[in-house]
Amino acid sequence: MLNIIKVSNDQQFNEVGAGIIAGLLQSNPRAILGLATGSTPVGVYSHLIELYKQGLVSFAKAQSFNLDEYIGLAADHPESYRRFMNEKLFNHVDIDLMNTHVPDGTAADPEKAAQEYTRMLEDAGQVDLQLLGIGHNGHIGFNEPADELQANTHVVELKKDTRAANARFFNSIDEVPTHAMTMGIASILKSRQILLMARGASKADILARALTGPLTTQCPATLLQTHPNVVVLVDEAAGGRLS
Ligand code: GLP
Repeated sequence: MLNIIKVSNDQQFNEVGAGIIAGLLQSNPRAILGLATGSTPVGVYSHLIELYKQGLVSFAKAQSFNLDEYIGLAADHPESYRRFMNEKLFNHVDIDLMNTHVPDGTAADPEKAAQEYTRMLEDAGQVDLQLLGIGHNGHIGFNEPADELQANTHVVELKKDTRAANARFFNSIDEVPTHAMTMGIASILKSRQILLMARGASKADILARALTGPLTTQCPATLLQTHPNVVVLVDEAAGGRLS
């Protein structure tokens, strides 16, 4: 089932997104969160920090698993997703860092590290809420358009357009890693609930394709149509082509 929530400004976007996560933690303090990076969830995380400071939410018993990480970036690299998560959320709330998981971008054997991440996820049980953004090419996590998609956490070569889109965070496109480690499509779809978030007119076409187009591995986000519980949080611009 697809539940579309359309909001009219950034503040509402962040409040609604944070409210969904906080509501889960209030009813299930031991919730397993699937977390995402990118620019879209930043304000949602900031609002969650506010809710934490107001005593309205606690992460003390929660666990988290992030979707993806760049291969080759150490945890303290300014653009690593581990550092992003620490700075945008973890360092400001009461989550135990030991209970936060981000794929290891510097593992000597990335394939093996990917398998270990899959095992850790399986051992933890079902993710209760998976946050997702969407790439302009329809990627979720770093599952890029391809003839075949992978079920579990794996190493992926990033598409040129993805590296170009993410170059804004680096000094130049040459500094953007060529590979990443990402949860696979089955790992994402196993989550009890998915919160897909998109903002801005540049996401309108791909979001409409993802949610209403034919299922295809060439737009990995179309596979979300097979999930029983997806909440789509959009602003007016991103939701402009959704009825
Ligand atoms: C990145 C991330 C995705 C993210 C997407 C959109 O490359 N790997 O997890 O959802 O691209 O990013 P943004 O929210 O900045 O548009």
